[in-house]
Amino acid sequence: MQHALNTQPELYLARYRAVRRQTEKLCAPLTPEDTVMQPMVDVSPPKWHLGHTTWFFETFILQPHVSGYKHFHPQYAFLFNSYYNSMGSRIARSDRGTLSRPPLQDIYAYRQHVDQYMEKVLADTLLLEKPELAAVLELGLQHEQQHQELLVTDIKYILSCNPLLPAYLPSPATAVLGLFSEKQPKTDGSPCQKAFTPLGTGARASALTMSYRRIRCLYLPLRPRLPR
Ligand SMILES: [Fe+2]
Repeated sequence: MQHALNTQPELYLARYRAVRRQTEKLCAPLTPEDTVMQPMVDVSPPKWHLGHTTWFFETFILQPHVSGYKHFHPQYAFLFNSYYNSMGSRIARSDRGTLSRPPLQDIYAYRQHVDQYMEKVLADTLLLEKPELAAVLELGLQHEQQHQELLVTDIKYILSCNPLLPAYLPSPATAVLGLFSEKQPKTDGSPCQKAFTPLGTGARASALTMSYRRIRCLYLPLRPRLPR
């Protein structure tokens, strides 16, 4: 691992950019409101994933190894630490969905801030002087990819809990043909089901569900294709 880094640091720079870009691509179809949701404790809001993966590089590479590095925000370590006890206190996992602030645009600014420093780290000779950083860098990349898997799962659950049954991405083919899933909302007593309860049951619920589907059929073909 160290050998590959020392001889081909540009490959690590390319990998770093690709991994970081992929996280943001996964979140691109979401609204800012989607990114705050935590409908159950086991789900982390997408906004938190965006911040937490950035906190990792800031905490384990930039702060200890880059002289003069300045925090983007002094309280972000509290917001975006997860279970790294040695790195200080943190917000409770169950409270991650309370973070209406900082706004999403600040989290993207945080990512950009850290990325700019990381690009310098990966482009100059610092890594060559400190080859032990390669292991931490590899860990950070794998960590962010692990969170990408979590993001997909969490986004799926978040959208599934919305009574409007929003699609993550429009599917022009199925929208045109009206081939939507006949799957009904959850009925397992979860918070999702409670969200549906006011809509009623039986014929009324079926009518409302059909209304949602008709709206989706009419609306989806008109939506611009979202960036990937
Ligand atoms: Fe993590």
